[in-house]
Amino acid sequence: MSKLTRSPAWEALAAHRKRIAATSLADLFVADLSRAGRFSIETGELMLDYSKHWVDAETMRLLAGLAAQAQLPGWIARMFAGDPLNNTEARAALHVALRSGDATFPERGDVMPAVRGALESMRRFVGEVHGGVLKGADGRAITDVVSIGIGGSDLGPRMLARAMRKFRKGGPKLHFVSNIDPADLEAALTGLTPNTTFFIVASKTFATAETLANAARARAWLEAVLGNSNGPSRHFAAITANAAGAEALGVPPERVFPMWDWVGGRYSVWSAVGLPVALAAGMNAFEELLEGARAMDAHFRNEPLERNMPVVLALLEIWYVNFFGAETRAVIPYSEDLRDLPAYLQQLEMESNGKRVDRDGNEVDYATAPVVWGASGTPSQHSFHQLLHQGTHLVPVDFIVIGRNGESSNAQEALVANALAQSAALAFGNPAPGAPHKVLPGNRPSSTVLLERLTPRALGALIALYEHKVFAEGVIWNLNSFDQWGVEHGKNLARTLLPRLLAGEDAAGLDASTRSLLARLRKRD
Ligand code: F6P
Repeated sequence: MSKLTRSPAWEALAAHRKRIAATSLADLFVADLSRAGRFSIETGELMLDYSKHWVDAETMRLLAGLAAQAQLPGWIARMFAGDPLNNTEARAALHVALRSGDATFPERGDVMPAVRGALESMRRFVGEVHGGVLKGADGRAITDVVSIGIGGSDLGPRMLARAMRKFRKGGPKLHFVSNIDPADLEAALTGLTPNTTFFIVASKTFATAETLANAARARAWLEAVLGNSNGPSRHFAAITANAAGAEALGVPPERVFPMWDWVGGRYSVWSAVGLPVALAAGMNAFEELLEGARAMDAHFRNEPLERNMPVVLALLEIWYVNFFGAETRAVIPYSEDLRDLPAYLQQLEMESNGKRVDRDGNEVDYATAPVVWGASGTPSQHSFHQLLHQGTHLVPVDFIVIGRNGESSNAQEALVANALAQSAALAFGNPAPGAPHKVLPGNRPSSTVLLERLTPRALGALIALYEHKVFAEGVIWNLNSFDQWGVEHGKNLARTLLPRLLAGEDAAGLDASTRSLLARLRKRD
């Protein structure tokens, strides 16, 4: 058994589980009339209602004991101090520096001059684009910007550019491309003109096959019209820690925005990787996004464990995953503007904590990150909510609800009504005597994260909330949340298979199934 599952805090929770499992959510609400208020946390523009969970005051005390046993406050301090928490790559995880308001940060090894420099370059570039100063090779104004990237270099900017589109100050139309399947770029370029289209290539390594393939295709598309001299280069910017790689594509050095090895891809939307967001919503809105995240950073550093929103979300996840066997969690934003949030959280949570060995390399004997999935409500109600209400799986849900959207129609109220109806039906069910097929058993847990409005500040806080939740879970599970060796292996394998598929190179050394599929696919012409 691992140290964790033998620990006093774990054993206390296992014993407590038996008691709480005999109590329903309905019982818990009857037993404590102030439950809704007591099991909620408010900070800045966010409110978390976690009253519809299988917890009472004792559960929360014991869960906080688990976090204390893992010395979570010390780990939080170490992250903010810039310690190399990513032990397999000997790197810090300093994404918090990207939104720090401190003149110097962290105390040892100040990175703020580089961070401020990058923000200034972003502001200049956004100003050029919005001011119509950015022109194509033939002097025509840029009408469309295509962002090329994948994983952390795509999901964050894509999600936030959509979420913040209402703050748009004009400027070119944005498009996102990530798949190595040429259909993705082709679809994005349909109807666009090379002379008025600009590409932003985001890749921390500038070595990711999908991104390099799409960047090369984009360049060829430009060259077909603009020729292959300097013209196409005027249509490119890059965001990378590998400036030489960007220059090899012909990106002018003054259009290369920096990234650093102390920022993980899935934590990088606060850096110049967020340039499409700044183009979509303006640089002031981007800075407000950073302020929102900064406020959540302060909350995470300073609030006691039981009143700490990211910590409470992490503890609830651990409660269900490790003590009730939950294998999945659904995220349902009741906002079409937030429809890409589940995909963003899939990478953040599953790439960070989808791990089977702990930070010391020992195989764990407890479950780690659940499968995260979801879609925007209300379409989700007509797709998978049937399973949530009457299926056989335990699926805790995060409902993300926006209070007001500033418009006078009743549309927002309709969304909110649906969200609240779903969480109430999950929690309290529907008795339907004599009609078993109509019975909703209820007692199905959910959190509601309420954003008063969909402002950049609220969004910044929301994303930082989940980042810190993931970190807190990683600390308790004793994982390195900042590497992704499983993904790296897949990339390398694809690299070795491609020549075998293209040129029929020797397939010896491959497993029999892959060899036979290769043989069949090679014969296809
Ligand atoms: O998916 C694996 C991964 O390494 C992610 O962590 C990263 O966000 C993505 O690839 C893209 O990497 P890069 O920004 O270097 O192209």
